[in-house]
Amino acid sequence: MKSIMKQLSALALIFILNSCGGVPEEKTADASEEKAFAVEEVLEMVAKENDVTRTLYTKAIVGKGKKQGMKFDEDWRKDDVEAGPLPALFLRGVATSIRKGPVPLGLYLGSDYPINAANKFQGQQAELFTEIKKNQEPKFFYDEEQKLHTAMFADLASAGACVTCHNDHPQTSKSDWKLGDVMGATTWQYPKDSLTYKETVAVLNSYAKGTVDIYMEYLDEIKAFEKSKKPEIGDKWPAEGNYLPTPEVFLDSVRKLSSYETMKHLVASAK
Ligand code: HEC
Repeated sequence: MKSIMKQLSALALIFILNSCGGVPEEKTADASEEKAFAVEEVLEMVAKENDVTRTLYTKAIVGKGKKQGMKFDEDWRKDDVEAGPLPALFLRGVATSIRKGPVPLGLYLGSDYPINAANKFQGQQAELFTEIKKNQEPKFFYDEEQKLHTAMFADLASAGACVTCHNDHPQTSKSDWKLGDVMGATTWQYPKDSLTYKETVAVLNSYAKGTVDIYMEYLDEIKAFEKSKKPEIGDKWPAEGNYLPTPEVFLDSVRKLSSYETMKHLVASAK
């Protein structure tokens, strides 16, 4: 049961919840309109999906890819740069995709000592970030100015590559980051204080779609490579050679790693 569940997407689970167990049609419709989750819970779920995605991208694509000679660069979109997006820019790509879609979910990666000055926390978020640095606990608050429910989660130096790249970067504002440091925080925002199942699934799906969008942009860049050896795109990963997974294979791995936790949450509150 456990392994089957792991392979189901959150969406499939909702479908199963709604379609089995002899729940009458009408009741199902009502249930999907009911407020099922507090905004804090939903932002926590999507932040977890983000942790898994980010770690997978950083370690299995960027980390292992570099060993195969693949390049990752902040100027990856430039025509003369044959490289993929750095982890922070992968996240920015996800945020941009979400913003273009219909779900009012905001995502931002900031820090107190950023490489890019545009990523420096300001005002209330800067204040809360000093607390996050102390205990690594998430912060939830209502941003009166923007009228948005806001959650901030610590972004940790989880791999040696985070530390070396940031410390050595020509634009860095801090060069003594250490493994395990709180390097920044992801800030998530949503306008309503509670969400229905449908809205919750829409949030999770818009995040997943964002990862596929930015990953596909990377694969498109590769098509235009002239000087570099193009990786073969299929079901293999860079750990095995000059390969990259297809967007489907990438997303499938994210889901296997993360959805089980998300689903336990969805199921627990459906009881
Ligand atoms: C190969 C270089 C490289 C690696 C590896 C890397 N980063 Fe970054 N990171 C950058 C660059 C460059 C930026 C600025 C991107 C931009 O223009 O917004 C950035 C941005 C960030 C930001 C936003 C604040 C800032 O500095 O602008 C955070 C937080 C961050 N990275 C954390 C991490 C963490 C945690 C890891 C490891 C999981 C990591 N980074 C891995 C280069 C790197």
